[in-house]
Amino acid sequence: MSDTIVIFGASGDLTSRKLIPALYQLFRKGRLPGDASVVGVSRSSYSHDEWREMLCESTKNFLGNHFDPSSWSKFSQRIFYHPGDVTDSESFNSLRALLSAIEASSGVSRLYYLSTMPQLYAEAIRQLGAAGLADDRDGPRRVIIEKPFGTDFKTAQQLNASIHEVFREDQIYRIDHYLGKETVQNIFALRFANSIFEPLWNRRYVDHVQITVAEEVLVGRRGGYYDESGVLRDMFQNHLLQLLMITAMEPPARYDASLVRDEKVKVLHCIRKMSGGDFAAQTFRGQYDGYLKEKGVPAGSQTATYAAIKLYCDNWRWKDVPFYLRSGKGMSCRTTQIVIQFKQVPHILFGSKTRVPVGNRLVIQVQPAEGIQMHFETKVPDSDMKTRTSTLDFSFQDHSGENDLPDAYQRLLLDAINGDASLFARSDEVELAWGIIDPVIAAWNSPAAPELFSYQTGNWGPVEIGEWMHNQGREWFDVCPVIR
Ligand code: BG6
Repeated sequence: MSDTIVIFGASGDLTSRKLIPALYQLFRKGRLPGDASVVGVSRSSYSHDEWREMLCESTKNFLGNHFDPSSWSKFSQRIFYHPGDVTDSESFNSLRALLSAIEASSGVSRLYYLSTMPQLYAEAIRQLGAAGLADDRDGPRRVIIEKPFGTDFKTAQQLNASIHEVFREDQIYRIDHYLGKETVQNIFALRFANSIFEPLWNRRYVDHVQITVAEEVLVGRRGGYYDESGVLRDMFQNHLLQLLMITAMEPPARYDASLVRDEKVKVLHCIRKMSGGDFAAQTFRGQYDGYLKEKGVPAGSQTATYAAIKLYCDNWRWKDVPFYLRSGKGMSCRTTQIVIQFKQVPHILFGSKTRVPVGNRLVIQVQPAEGIQMHFETKVPDSDMKTRTSTLDFSFQDHSGENDLPDAYQRLLLDAINGDASLFARSDEVELAWGIIDPVIAAWNSPAAPELFSYQTGNWGPVEIGEWMHNQGREWFDVCPVIR
C-alpha cells in the first residue's frame, strides 16, 4: 500500500510551519511509509521545484539542528505541487491526473488535509466527492479538517452534514492540536496506567480543578479573525474543553478510538446547563489594554481576550466539584496547566502550633517545561510540629534523554495516516462542545452580559478575577512554570 498526503491550502503558514516539518521529522525517524508522497495544492503558481526550495528554507528555519540536508533531499523528491482552486472542478480533475502519475497503480491510501480558509471546507469536500477522489474502493481515503470546525452549534452541524454526504464518520479526522501534545496524552497514562491516583480522582477527595491556558502573546496579525472569534471560540470550545474531557472522563474499556471518544462525549453530556443569573456568577470576561488598537479590531469591540468559566459535571464522580477553565492572551507567562486541588485533611492534629495544612495539589504542566508536580505537606525540620508545602517533580525533559518532545502534528499526522482516530474529535463531540459554549457567547452578547474588565498585559488577567475566586473560598494557582 502506498501513501499520499494531499494538503489543500499549501501556501499557508500552517503548511510551512507545522505540517511539512512534522512530515519531514516522521520521514527522518523512519516512521513515514517509505514511498509516501506529499502533494500541496493552493492557488499560487509554483513549480514542484520552486515549492520544494521554499519548503527547504522554511523547514531549515523551524527545525534548526534537527534539519539534515541529506535526508531532506530524499524527502523532498517525494514532494509535489499542484496549482489549483478548491472551488473549481477542473483543478480536481487535474489533481486526479497528477495523483495517478505519482501513485502506485493500485492499493493507495490517501489522506486529504484541509488547511484552507474554513469557509471553503464544505466546498472542497464536495469537489473531492464529485471528482471521485473520496472513493475508497482502491484503498483508504481519509480527510483531516483543521479548526475552527464551525463558528457555533448550527454551523458545525451543517458542516458535519455536508461532510457526511461525501465521507463516512470513520474517514473524518477533526484536528485539535492539543490532543497531539505528549503531556495531554500522558494524562491517559497518569490516570489509567497507575493505581494510586484513580481512587482519589473524584468528589470525595477533589475540592476543585483548575484548567489554565495562559499565553503571553497578543493577537498580533490575527486581529480580524480574532475579533470575530474571541477567546471562547478560539480556545474554550476546542482546547480547554478537550482538556476538561480527558481530566474528567471515566476509564474506557480499551484504548480504542470509539470507546475513548464515547467516554469523552459523556463528560460533555454531564455539563450542567447555565441559565439566568448563572452566566454572571459563573463566567468572567476581560480584554487586554491595547486590544482596541490592534490591526483589524473595530472601534469599541467588546470581544473578550480573557475568560474564566466555572463548570460543573453532574455525574456520580464529579457532582458539585467546580471545574474552573481560564485562558487569556497577554498574560504574565505562557503556561498550560491542570491543577487537581485536593480537599483539606478532615481533622487538624497539630492545633495552634502550626499553620493549617494546605490541601494537596497535583499540577500537570502541559507546556512548557512539561511535567507533573505533586504538592504535599512535610514537617519543618527542627521545629515543634510545624508543616510546610513540599513538592515532588517529574520533568519529561529529564527522562527523555536527547529526544525532544515531538510536535503535536507529528503524532496526529501519523495517527491519521494509520487510521487511528482516538486523538481526533468526533462529530457529536464538536457539536456538544458548541452546545456548551454557544449559550455563554449569547449571554455575553445580551444586555445582561457580565462586565468586560480590562487588564494590563503581563499579569494574570484582570485583577478582579482574584477576588472572584477568593469570594468562592478558593485561590487561583498562579505559578508559572512550576517545573524548570
Ligand atoms: C490556536 C489558537 O488554536 O492555539 C491560537 O487559534 C493560540 O490563538 C494557539 O495561540 C495556542 O496553541 P499552543 O499550542 O501554542 O498552546
